[in-house]
Amino acid sequence: MTAFVSAPTADTTTPTGLTMVVSAIADLVPGIREFSFRSPDGGVLPGFVPGSHLVVHAGERANAYSLTGDGVAPTRYSISVLRKAGGDGGSTWLHDRLAVGDTVDVEVPRSEFAPVMRADKYVLVAGGIGITPILSHLRAARRWQREVQVLYTFRAGRGAHVDDVAELAGGSAELFTDRTDFARRLGDVLIDQPVGTHLYACGPAGMIDHVVTTAATRGWPQSRIHVEHFGVDALDAGDPFVVRLTRSDVTLDVPSGVSALQALQDNGIAVPNRCRQGVCGECRLPLTGGTAAHRDLFLTEDEKRAGDSFMPCVSRANDGCTLEVPL
Ligand code: FES
Repeated sequence: MTAFVSAPTADTTTPTGLTMVVSAIADLVPGIREFSFRSPDGGVLPGFVPGSHLVVHAGERANAYSLTGDGVAPTRYSISVLRKAGGDGGSTWLHDRLAVGDTVDVEVPRSEFAPVMRADKYVLVAGGIGITPILSHLRAARRWQREVQVLYTFRAGRGAHVDDVAELAGGSAELFTDRTDFARRLGDVLIDQPVGTHLYACGPAGMIDHVVTTAATRGWPQSRIHVEHFGVDALDAGDPFVVRLTRSDVTLDVPSGVSALQALQDNGIAVPNRCRQGVCGECRLPLTGGTAAHRDLFLTEDEKRAGDSFMPCVSRANDGCTLEVPL
């Protein structure tokens, strides 16, 4: 046992947390393992909106993973986790240490990437492990008998949930292991869709940029394009910088390789956080001085330009300046 897995306890709930039992673990494809959790009494769990995250606690840390179910009266929560070499350890821990029968602390699922229910049709685009929230959307679309079309691109032999996608979407799913084929087909699919169609994409940053650009050049309004990144690309350690807490008149040094979030926490300053990847938005802090080097995927370009907030889990200071935060 390590800090990631808690000892079994009679008190199985907290206001936002749940203690779950690992009910199944399955290897889907090399490097991707599916974990299912159930409540200790086997009962129905809190429902969730398609595309929601499950935050899994690892002691002081927490990682967010997309749930793959449709969220209706679930009796289990399932996540599929790519083992991330050189990551922050969350995926490695899950892969190497978690066993069926262990207990694990999670938070009640939160919606981050919800479907627009009034949509006439959904075009779902997934790249690699980005299939996880897309599978949740697909299951929901099938449950509610909504029109859906799926494009799923992955490395040969590394496509998780391929059978699930094929079974759920039938002839409406197209699978790609060649990027050029995928790009060509994406361009065609986005040309000719009914007006009420909404586009959902999840995958690596480069793929999402391509999907968004392709849709935009084909006249899709921003309001019908929905994306979810599953992580920032490898970030460099960054230069040291300083954070000044203006209310408490405290100055913190943030060394290279350490996030501002970590520096704050190391100094006893609690900042809500979940993904630590600049994706979820939970750690957002106001900024009253200095210029942030934004490295997150959460703030919009306008918000980054405005310069009055930043995400301390990944973002740093520009050119060695001091960031001022009203804490
Ligand atoms: S913890 Fe998720 S954006 Fe910072």
